[in-house]
Amino acid sequence: METIIGDGSSRQDIEKAGALIRAGGLVVFPTETVYGLGANALDAQAAAKIYAAKGRPSDNPLIVHLCDPKKADEVGYTSPLYEKLARAFMPGPLTVILPKRACVPDTVTGGLATVGVRVPSHPAAQAFLAACGLPVAAPSANLSTKPSPTRAGHAVRDLFGRVDMILDGGPCQIGLESTIVKLTGPDALTLLRPGAVTVEQLKEVCRQVTIDQAVLHKLGEGQRAEAPGMKYRHYAPEAPVIIVEGPHDAVVRYIQRHTAHQPCGVICFDEDRDKGYFSGSVFTLGSRRDAGAQARRLFECLREIDEQHSLEKVYAFMPDQKGLGLAVYNRLIKAAGFTMIQLGEES
Ligand code: TXA
Ligand code: MG
Repeated sequence: METIIGDGSSRQDIEKAGALIRAGGLVVFPTETVYGLGANALDAQAAAKIYAAKGRPSDNPLIVHLCDPKKADEVGYTSPLYEKLARAFMPGPLTVILPKRACVPDTVTGGLATVGVRVPSHPAAQAFLAACGLPVAAPSANLSTKPSPTRAGHAVRDLFGRVDMILDGGPCQIGLESTIVKLTGPDALTLLRPGAVTVEQLKEVCRQVTIDQAVLHKLGEGQRAEAPGMKYRHYAPEAPVIIVEGPHDAVVRYIQRHTAHQPCGVICFDEDRDKGYFSGSVFTLGSRRDAGAQARRLFECLREIDEQHSLEKVYAFMPDQKGLGLAVYNRLIKAAGFTMIQLGEES
């Protein structure tokens, strides 16, 4: 398939992308979180092409993207709590799971009775969705099992020749996928995936905020994930990632010991790199205190690790879990397949 590379700030390219979607095609577009791989959400065949292009299991539902929060009524059944969340966080990095309307095909929702809706704030995403004039189903624009793309170049590497067009909108401002919530009562919701709309922010709008177990823990045998995507091994580099937690000096010593005699990588913060603790393949996430920088860097960092095929293991420092840090932590523990080492003072 021929893939056109377009400019997300060109009116002409946006119009072309909209026409491709209306004709049943696939278009990669930028959002403030990560790049999305879009198709007409009301066309079962167009949506089915997304799964083929990504190599994605077809029971993993897609998020439906809209240019205006008011349009959610066209694909799902909204509620006063939805309206409150929309006023507080849309357009922006929040996906809300609603009971679905019959017009949304099963290929989009993986056969579920619910649909996820999201209104991205990125100007190119807004212009693209307006040009499409219909709801757009879009997962992240990576090959299944690769990290989500935070730059157009990542999507080009994964999907060139598999999609009709890739719109370049520069690096994504957030770098991790949207927060996903499921509404469970008039003033209650469950967090299915942490993102840039934080638990702390959600609590200001909704009385009861529950964190789904799959956010922080590995699901046990036979346990069902509320968001089907959370059950898959995601974002995992080829080299196994091991997160090391404990007193800072003990973590530094442990990683130094374990990286001395074999080709290993280290994921650390700027402060540790600056101290020169580690030699070899050091990947930095930004400052220890800057969760925004860590969020922007993490997926790119995981892609860089995969480009160095020689690494046997990668050791990572534990990020802080407050605010946006919870999303960084969630993606990192998934990249590590939940492998964590807990050190005491004496280590
Ligand atoms: O920021 C984002 O959300 C990006 C951009 C492109 O908007 N999209 C994205 O899509 O991350 P994707 O497909 O990579 O992740 C969607 C997640 C999956 O874990 C999926 O299982 C869950 O959302 N999901 C979608 N619809 C759902 C539903 N009806 N019920 C529960 N989970 C749902
Ligand atoms: Mg994804």
